[in-house]
Amino acid sequence: MSSGGRSQPEAGAARTPMTLPRLAEMKDAGEQIVMVTAYDHPSARVAEEAGVDVVLVGDSAANNVLGYDSTVPVGMEEMLMLAAAVHRGLKTPLLVGDMPFGSYENSNELAVQNAQRFIKEAGCDAVKLERGGSSVDRARAIVRAGIPVMGHIGLTPQTATSLGGYKAQGKTAARAAQVAEEALALQAAGCFAIVFEAVPAAVTEAIVSRLEVPTIGIGAGPATSGQVLVFHDLLGLNTGHMARFVKRYAEVHRTMVDAVSDYAAEVRSGKFPEPEHMYSIDPAELSEFRRYLDQESLASAKAWEWEPLP
Ligand code: KIV
Repeated sequence: MSSGGRSQPEAGAARTPMTLPRLAEMKDAGEQIVMVTAYDHPSARVAEEAGVDVVLVGDSAANNVLGYDSTVPVGMEEMLMLAAAVHRGLKTPLLVGDMPFGSYENSNELAVQNAQRFIKEAGCDAVKLERGGSSVDRARAIVRAGIPVMGHIGLTPQTATSLGGYKAQGKTAARAAQVAEEALALQAAGCFAIVFEAVPAAVTEAIVSRLEVPTIGIGAGPATSGQVLVFHDLLGLNTGHMARFVKRYAEVHRTMVDAVSDYAAEVRSGKFPEPEHMYSIDPAELSEFRRYLDQESLASAKAWEWEPLP
């Protein structure tokens, strides 16, 4: 059957689990790395079946599944529960857990402890943290503890307020130089990859040519070694304002609303359930059951009367 021109893994073909050396190889070979967020078991299974390379349990779960209005409020326990569900749905992509705001900034010890929880309790392969500055030290400490770290620079939503809002970063020479310095510092700290978010394409291109590690872009143009999009954005599960860098590949929210509306209408009209949704019973068993219900003792049975507790 045609896959409609889409590049998909062959049905039933065993894929090898993604590794850090393989990601580095992909970068060197100019093979684009595909990363997507997932926050639960069904989205993990979609990512697995679609054959993506890296799955990020992003702290964007805060907005996309938990109903917070930014990524700031989400906590470790919430992230661990979501990451563990994603882990149960994956076999091949590399699984990265996003360290939430407040889970790593205060000290290297706190950062290592929480990174270890993503690995031990949720089954992640690596963690991601945001920003340069003090996050470079945290990244180095986590790498030294044996946990792979992905950096994240440019627009870092956890600190969007100090960046002046959800805006592209690196739009002046001075700010672009800062983004470059952060990228180089995170690479030197041992990060295996770095996310560039909302950085002008030309700035990204100039920086990534000086980096050895793979880079993953979101609103950073085509020069990165791969791209990431938020699951709910690319599927059209979200409605309302979308960042410029989002491309919607489906309108799943509309499909879901239409389906639930059809279901509601059919329940109300009595069209659903139909015979194919029902179970049957052998007619002889049914007659016997009816005889049982018609017995004197059952027919005269009273409804249970609740007595208030003393
Ligand atoms: O949380 C998230 O979804 C992210 C991606 C945008 C990289 O950090």
